[in-house]
Amino acid sequence: HVELGLWADLFLVAPITANSIAKFANGLCDNLLTATYLSARCPVILAPAMDLDMFQHPSVQANLAKLNSFGNNILDPESGELASGLSGQGRMMEPENILKRLEKFFKDREDFKKKKVLITMGPTQEALDPVRFISNHSSGKMGIALANAFRNRGAEVYVISGPISLKVDKESFHWKDVKSAKEMYHEAKLLQAKMDICVFAAAVADYAPAEIAPEKIKKSDSELTIKMVKNVDIAFELGKIKKPGQLHIGFALETENEAENAKAKLDKKNFDLIVLNSMKESGAGFQVDTNRVHIYGSGGGSISSEVAEKSKIAELILDQIKLAPIGV
Ligand code: PMT
Repeated sequence: HVELGLWADLFLVAPITANSIAKFANGLCDNLLTATYLSARCPVILAPAMDLDMFQHPSVQANLAKLNSFGNNILDPESGELASGLSGQGRMMEPENILKRLEKFFKDREDFKKKKVLITMGPTQEALDPVRFISNHSSGKMGIALANAFRNRGAEVYVISGPISLKVDKESFHWKDVKSAKEMYHEAKLLQAKMDICVFAAAVADYAPAEIAPEKIKKSDSELTIKMVKNVDIAFELGKIKKPGQLHIGFALETENEAENAKAKLDKKNFDLIVLNSMKESGAGFQVDTNRVHIYGSGGGSISSEVAEKSKIAELILDQIKLAPIGV
């Protein structure tokens, strides 16, 4: 019953009656609308509509002032003919005008406008032969959530993605599909110098088969040994050429000594922030729609999130990136 209030980016009530205004102002919770209002974590915009004398009544005005003090945005009703046949202020703001206010609301949040952002995401696939590969469970969901959040907040987003099966609106990004870590590195290196922010969300294979068999490996002995060689560490290599003013954000997926390992990667790879997600926490990590993260900053601070939709986690990460490198 609180879910509706948790996922929304914005909660608009249009029209809102004198009755609901009174309930919102006084914390009453006797229907889905009021329950959603009380549990909403996002900004709230209210577009009152009622008769002119009702709107002017001190009790309604006092309730609106109270809601305003809670940080709710009130869209003042317009003047004109009312349902009662009377004329005056009380008509809900025209939908086109409400739409303009919503557009302005989201535009004002374009806090990454003109920023160029590179995101590596998804798994890599390291070929064994023409038909087999070694990979991992990354679905790309976290990377897409980040790409959407950056785009919605005005950034120009460059995505380098390992193979994923999600449906994505690739047109709204500069999108490059790759398979192996080597290919991902090649593409990232071409872009890094002109980026303001690089986010390394990909689950890159640390090792790849030393040789790719030219033909399908045949079943013969009871055992098969594959020699693996270390892959290039993309974040580490690009961290060495990070310029002043550029921000590098890493991810860490750990199963043990999580905080310690994440902080070691923060230093080693020259990250400004590292986002730790744990394989041990339910609702976090690979494949699922939610995540729970602990963000460590190069300044020594840290914050932790609740389990939330990856879209919400992405917004939280962006909020922390805004504070970097002196923030968290
Ligand atoms: O795709 P989803 O299913 O939504 O899952 C999201 C995720 C769990 C894959 C994502 O949130 C995540 O944690 N990605 C990084 C996983 C990982 O590979 O972590 P790591 O601890 O091995 O690597 C540390 C950092 O170095 C990462 O930023 C990684 O992208 C980078 N790296 C690692 C190895 C390598 N060869 N090159 C790299 O750039």
